[in-house]
Amino acid sequence: MGEGRASPSMSFLAVYLRVLGQLRPEARLAVVLVLANLALAGAQFAEPLLFGRIVDVLTAAQGSDKPLGWSNLAPLVSAWAGFGLFSILASVMVALHADRLAHRRRLAVMAGYFDHVLNLPQSFHATAHSGRLLKAMLEGAGGMFGLWLSFFRENCASFAALFILLPATLLVNWRLALLLMVLVAAFGAVTTFVLRRTEDLQTTVERHNSDLVERASDALGNVPVIQSFARIDSESRALRGAIDALLAAQMPVLSWWAAAAVASRASATLTLLGVFLLGTWLHLQGLASIGEIVAFMNFATMLIGRLEQAVGFVNALFLQSAKMREFFAILDTRPVVADRQGARDAGRLEGAVAFELVSFSYDGKRQAVRDVSFTAKFGETIALVGATGSGKSTTLGLLHRVFDPLQGRVVIDGADIRDLTLASLRRNIGVVFQEPMLFARSIDENLRIGKPDATRAEIARALELAQASEFVARLAEGAATRISERGRSLSGGERQRLAIARALLKDPPIMIFDEATSALDAATERQIQAALEAATKGRTTFVIAHRLATVRNADRILVFDHGEIVESGAFGELMARGGLFAGLAAAQFMAGASASAPVDGAASVGRIPLPLAG
Ligand SMILES: Nc1ncnc2c1ncn2[C@@H]1O[C@H](COP(=O)(O)OP(=O)(O)O)[C@@H](O)[C@H]1O
Ligand SMILES: [Mg+2]
Repeated sequence: MGEGRASPSMSFLAVYLRVLGQLRPEARLAVVLVLANLALAGAQFAEPLLFGRIVDVLTAAQGSDKPLGWSNLAPLVSAWAGFGLFSILASVMVALHADRLAHRRRLAVMAGYFDHVLNLPQSFHATAHSGRLLKAMLEGAGGMFGLWLSFFRENCASFAALFILLPATLLVNWRLALLLMVLVAAFGAVTTFVLRRTEDLQTTVERHNSDLVERASDALGNVPVIQSFARIDSESRALRGAIDALLAAQMPVLSWWAAAAVASRASATLTLLGVFLLGTWLHLQGLASIGEIVAFMNFATMLIGRLEQAVGFVNALFLQSAKMREFFAILDTRPVVADRQGARDAGRLEGAVAFELVSFSYDGKRQAVRDVSFTAKFGETIALVGATGSGKSTTLGLLHRVFDPLQGRVVIDGADIRDLTLASLRRNIGVVFQEPMLFARSIDENLRIGKPDATRAEIARALELAQASEFVARLAEGAATRISERGRSLSGGERQRLAIARALLKDPPIMIFDEATSALDAATERQIQAALEAATKGRTTFVIAHRLATVRNADRILVFDHGEIVESGAFGELMARGGLFAGLAAAQFMAGASASAPVDGAASVGRIPLPLAG
């Protein structure tokens, strides 16, 4: 999605810091774990040092005639054992708590993302594929989980080893210490080189990855189409094509990192050899003790382990970073519509609506709605008609604040709706869309979206009003029946009646029907006409409909053309006027007439008789 690519510039380090920043709600525990890690790193450094001292005591005893007693070694050995034990205990603690912390935060981050995405405007969801959003959530949270774990289990100690302990070795023997630094520099150089080479490649890989998910989830959401159009082969071929493209892009990246691993291993072996040779030479010059050589061999081995782990981690972070960026980019998308400072709860509104010279544009260039003004008194039914794309949905979107007007204002009961909290405004407005959008849950649960604490009686009543109780009663488990994904187990008319029942249960003073019946055939539409009338009673209602028969009883009809209201009035008035509406009516009547039986006199525009009403 467009937003997802907005921040590829977010640097590698910035991504990592942001991932760690997600631990903020449990910052105290995180800090304790970091301190434990530092202590661990210190203990691990002390071990080779003590071991080296012991070797020096042993070699010194060998050269002198004073017998070596346990009393000489006891303090060193017990300190060594003590540090060893401490390391084990500390690492067990870290492993245990780091895991718990990571598990908790993973789910918390997912929940936060979910809330955030649900709050994003419909204009965002119109362009962001749900499969991609889901992928970003699962992979983002999963990736962070892994990064946190490796931070607490390994990285933190590795960084401590590199930045604190490595300089400390200078105090033990600076000549040998310099060699270790060369080793670190070599690792750093190799890793940076490979990072630079593969960064762009990996971004491409991530794009292929997202395409793959989008493709697959798109196909899974349209299985009936794929099957009925005999497209199974071509869909699966297309998916394989996406997989091939992904693999082709991923392979060079993997080769580079494999090369990095080999180079690291080689420099590790060379360093060990180097420490040994340099140490022996220094020893011969009297510049290093055998104990120091032993200690540095240990340091080197430990450091190599740390470095390999660090390179592996950078690699993992690198492979994850595109996913993280996508995740954060979505998290950074701000809802355009948000509660204003000092917005108040609307309570229960009366339902008197006024649009005052409202204009809106999606792209900042072309106005989708221009200077729209109209009023609706409490209880009135207002119909919006006009060609597709003439701005009807946008106008009503402005009423329930899918977006805010660029100019003008929308007023309910005398208050600019931007002065009301979003949640309280939406509580007062019921919306029924063309696509009923049911959840794969029981009918009960679907209706309770409208009112979570609805009683059985209220649900039964809403079903009754929506003319749905009869077919629900026929279902095996009644209202407890689980409906399939997107309500595919029900017919279009049944689904829409449930959607109406859901809105009715909310019992809002204002109702919006955005082409609620457009997907239904005329007969089904007539069947649910009673449901619509029930939904309209005692509310201010806005209806967008194509079939003019549906809008005939409206108190006022607003005729839209290219974002503007060009005519308004009651059905009879508009017909008499012989303008755009009368033309639309005539065209529709003609279409209807030619499909069935010819009706005489139908062609005279402006005097269309009532058969329109159906
Ligand atoms: N999410 C969107 N992003 C950009 N343009 C849009 C979007 N939705 C609608 N439009 C444009 O705004 C205009 C009005 O659309 P709309 O209000 O949906 O019309 P109607 O409901 O009357 O068919 C159209 O030109 C349409 O292409
Ligand atoms: Mg529309």
